[in-house]
Amino acid sequence: MVFLKPLKGILKQYRERCDAPIRKLLHVTDIMPRSGPATLTSLQTLFETKRGTVLPLPPRLAHLYGCLRMPLPRSHTHVFSNFVTTLDGVVSLNVKGHASGGDISGFSAQDRMVMGLLRAIADVVIIGSGTLGVDRRHVWTAEAIFPKLADDYRQLRKALGKHAAPLNVIVSGSGDVDPSLPVFVSGKVQALIVTTTAGAKRLLKQTVPDSVEIRAIRPSVSAHSGGARAHRHGASAIAASAILDAVSRVSPGKLILVEGGPRLLGDFYAESLLDEQFLTLAPQIAGRDPGDGRLSLVMGKAFAPNDPLWGKLIDMRRGGNHLFLRYSFH
Ligand SMILES: NC(=O)c1ccc[n+]([C@@H]2O[C@H](COP(=O)([O-])OP(=O)(O)OC[C@H]3O[C@@H](n4cnc5c(N)ncnc54)[C@H](OP(=O)(O)O)[C@@H]3O)[C@@H](O)[C@H]2O)c1
Repeated sequence: MVFLKPLKGILKQYRERCDAPIRKLLHVTDIMPRSGPATLTSLQTLFETKRGTVLPLPPRLAHLYGCLRMPLPRSHTHVFSNFVTTLDGVVSLNVKGHASGGDISGFSAQDRMVMGLLRAIADVVIIGSGTLGVDRRHVWTAEAIFPKLADDYRQLRKALGKHAAPLNVIVSGSGDVDPSLPVFVSGKVQALIVTTTAGAKRLLKQTVPDSVEIRAIRPSVSAHSGGARAHRHGASAIAASAILDAVSRVSPGKLILVEGGPRLLGDFYAESLLDEQFLTLAPQIAGRDPGDGRLSLVMGKAFAPNDPLWGKLIDMRRGGNHLFLRYSFH
């Protein structure tokens, strides 16, 4: 791997650390500053597999997360997703002012630490317009989700040879996106909007910063998405494979993080394009009322019983009463 060559020494050290109980090798007082996040304690690794390359996490992240392995493919993309869900399978309460992932995780510092870690290793983060609509002031970087670990995330990115923040990709068939939001104008990230031709027309009626790329794609009733399923967004559904094609034209990076929401994620699962699911299980029962619009991990697609999708558990960590799960789908 080109970018890993100069890092052989660091990787060797890290691999040795990964193979030994990490707490014995790191002194907590050395790496947790007094000003550090009070409630942030290390995850306890309950189960892990040796799939992928050990990533060179800086000491504080290694202490907090443990060993992180990730496939680092040269020629194809590796697509992974990260969500948090309640025990009863709710990922969004869909209530104004309480529709964010934080309401699901209980604003868990450990969950945000993991979100930051996965963004720090990603070349690209993809979200749907619904998720942008809920977190309008956000940019999808590691630092933005967990500012106290910003230096550690930056160090990790640098060690991986990634100098800029991950490309932020917003998917919207309708083009009903506000181009004055920070993700487009703050200069903190490069942004790409993947939309339809009609959506692009609608967008270009507004002032869109020159730095924002817009890729217009013909909406799809494609063979990939399986007939009727492709009609879910009406005339404006874009096949997940077409989203990845558009992304590859802008970013050569191979690690693609799909942060959702559930509708976008459903499209990736429907086309078998999701390699891994990171899933935080928060110890909360949200409940449901008929018609309350609460969302589960995947919306707009049905798999079981006709086309069930089964994953394989490849990693499990505990952070207090939260579980941090990781499943492989390939
Ligand atoms: N718990 C978690 O970990 C987590 C993670 C992410 C999001 N969420 C929550 O999930 C909720 C949003 O859910 P959602 O399902 O509405 O979000 P979403 O998937 O982010 O947004 C749906 C919208 O994105 C666009 N879109 C998605 N896939 C498309 C495709 N294949 N082709 C064309 N357009 C596509 C469409 O936009 P247009 O209508 O503009 O065409 C669609 O209406 C929020 O409350 C958010 O906080 C929770």
